[in-house]
Amino acid sequence: MIEFSKKILFVGYGAVAECTLPILFKHIKVDPKSVTVIDFESKEEKLRQWTSIGVRYVRDKVTEENMHALLGKYVSAGDVLIDLAWNIDACEILQWCHDRGVLYINTSVEVWDPYAGGRKHPTERTLYWRHMNVRKMFGKWKEKGATAVVEHGANPGLISHFTKQGLLDIANASLDEKKVKGRKAEALRGLVTAQKFNHLARELGVKVIHCSERDTQITDVPKQIDEFVNTWSIEGFREEGTTTSELGWGTHEKTLPKFGYRHKDGPKNQICIARMGINTWVRSWVPNYTIQGMVVRHGEAFTISDKLTVWEGKRAVYRPTVHYAYCPCDEAIVSLNEMRGYNYKLQPKLRIMNDEITKGADILGALIMGHGFKSWWVGSDLTIEESRRLVPHQNATTMQVAISVVAATMWMIENPSEGIKVPDELPHGYVLGISKPYLGNFISTRSDWTPLRDYENAFSGFNKPDFDKKDPWQFKNFLIKDGD
Ligand SMILES: NC(=O)c1ccc[n+]([C@@H]2O[C@H](COP(=O)([O-])OP(=O)(O)OC[C@H]3O[C@@H](n4cnc5c(N)ncnc54)[C@H](O)[C@@H]3O)[C@@H](O)[C@H]2O)c1
Repeated sequence: MIEFSKKILFVGYGAVAECTLPILFKHIKVDPKSVTVIDFESKEEKLRQWTSIGVRYVRDKVTEENMHALLGKYVSAGDVLIDLAWNIDACEILQWCHDRGVLYINTSVEVWDPYAGGRKHPTERTLYWRHMNVRKMFGKWKEKGATAVVEHGANPGLISHFTKQGLLDIANASLDEKKVKGRKAEALRGLVTAQKFNHLARELGVKVIHCSERDTQITDVPKQIDEFVNTWSIEGFREEGTTTSELGWGTHEKTLPKFGYRHKDGPKNQICIARMGINTWVRSWVPNYTIQGMVVRHGEAFTISDKLTVWEGKRAVYRPTVHYAYCPCDEAIVSLNEMRGYNYKLQPKLRIMNDEITKGADILGALIMGHGFKSWWVGSDLTIEESRRLVPHQNATTMQVAISVVAATMWMIENPSEGIKVPDELPHGYVLGISKPYLGNFISTRSDWTPLRDYENAFSGFNKPDFDKKDPWQFKNFLIKDGD
C-alpha cells in the first residue's frame, strides 16, 4: 500500500471505473474525501457505498467547451486524473495536465468526435495518426513535466508487459533446453540480462505477436432484439471496431493485404486496412485451442511494434507484425451481427454484463510466434468466480483493466515527473508484481501452433486459397478469406 495525500479525480464511472475504485482503495491510502468522480449519467446508486464514506460525485459531462473550467475545479499540481470516459480528446487533456502539473492516466487515445470528417483517407482515421499528433504535441514541450501514462488498461496496457515476460521466458527456455549454443547462447544471455527487448525479439526470430483474447463469459439473461450486450464499454468497442483495421507491420511481410495502406510520416511501423476491424478476421490461438479473432485497432499494435523495431540508421531492419485478435463474449458476437444489419448504427439498448454472468473467463495474452518453439502464449485466464472473489459484482474483463490502471497509477505517484509514457516504457516487473494476484491463472506456455496447422479447406480443388507455404508467419496465412 502506498500513501497519497493529494486529490484523485475519476472522469467516467462506467464498467472499468466501478471495478477500479475499490482496488485503488486497497492499494493507495488516500482520504476518500479527496476523491471525486465525474460522470454525466446518473451514478448515485452505484456510488452510494463510496459517497457514504466521503467520495464526492459530480454529475456533469467533460466537453470541449467546459473541460478547462470543469477539471480545474477538482485537480491541480500533483493531483491525479484517471480518465475512464470516452471521446475526450487525448491531446487536449494531456496538454491541460502538462500545463498544470497534474498526473494523468487513460486506457485509450481518443478524440472529441471520432465519427466526424466523413470521407477522410483511411490513414487519417487511424490510431497511428492520433499517436503522431500526441508525439508532435509533446515534441514542442520544453520539459517532460508531470507523468502521464497513456493507454494503460489490459490491452493496451498489460499486454505490453506480457510480451516482455514472454520474450524472457522463451529466451530462458531456449537456453535451458540448449536450443541455442555457443556464441548464440552467449548473445541471448546478454540480451536477457540487458533486457534489450527489440534485439531479443530479433535474436529469437519472433515474427508475429497477437494480442489474442477469447472472452467465454456467458449468461442466462440472453441478448434481446435491439440490444447490444458486452462485458465492457459498448461505445468504446463500436468506435474502435467500426473504423480501419490497423496493425504493426513486420519487416518479414512480403505483400500488403488487399486495401492495405502505409503511412507517409513518423516511424511507419503500422499499416491500416480500409476495412472495419470487426470485419477483418484472423486465425489465432489461446491455451489450448484455435480461435477466430477480429483485427480491431488497438494501441498495443502501435507501441509494441514501435518499441520492438531494430533500427540501422533510418532503416527498420527488424520488426514483428503486431495486432489484436479479438473473440469477444458470445452475446457481443450476436450483438455485432445485429448491428451489421443495421448499417453499424448502435442498438437502442446497451447492457454491460456483471451479476447476470453464469460462468466463463476472460483469456487474454500475448501469442508470440515464429521462434524456435513456434508459438508461446503468456497472459491471464481469469474466471468470473475468481474476479467476483476479488471484487464482488465485477466481471473478468474489467478486472484485468482495473488492476492495470491501479498499478500504473501507483507507478505514477512514485515517479511523478516522467512526462508522457506508454505501457512499454513502464517496468514490467513492477506492473506484473501488483497485477498478478488479480489475473487468475497466469499462464506462460509453448505451443506448436501455426496459422495453417488446423486449416481445412472444405472445397479443396474448387477454390484458390492464397497461402505462403514457405513462410507460415505471413499475415496472409492468418487472414480468413475463405478460399481466395
Ligand atoms: N485498454 C483496455 O484494456 C480497455 C479495456 C476496456 C475499456 N477501455 C476503455 O476505457 C474507457 C472506459 O471503459 P468502460 O468499459 O468503463 O466504459 P463505459 O461505457 O462502461 O463507461 C464510460 C463512462 O464514462 C462516462 N462518460 C463518457 N464520456 C464522458 C464525459 N465526457 N464526461 C463525463 N463522463 C463521461 C459514461 O457516462 C460512462 O458511464 C473507454 O474509453 C474504453 O475504450 C480500455
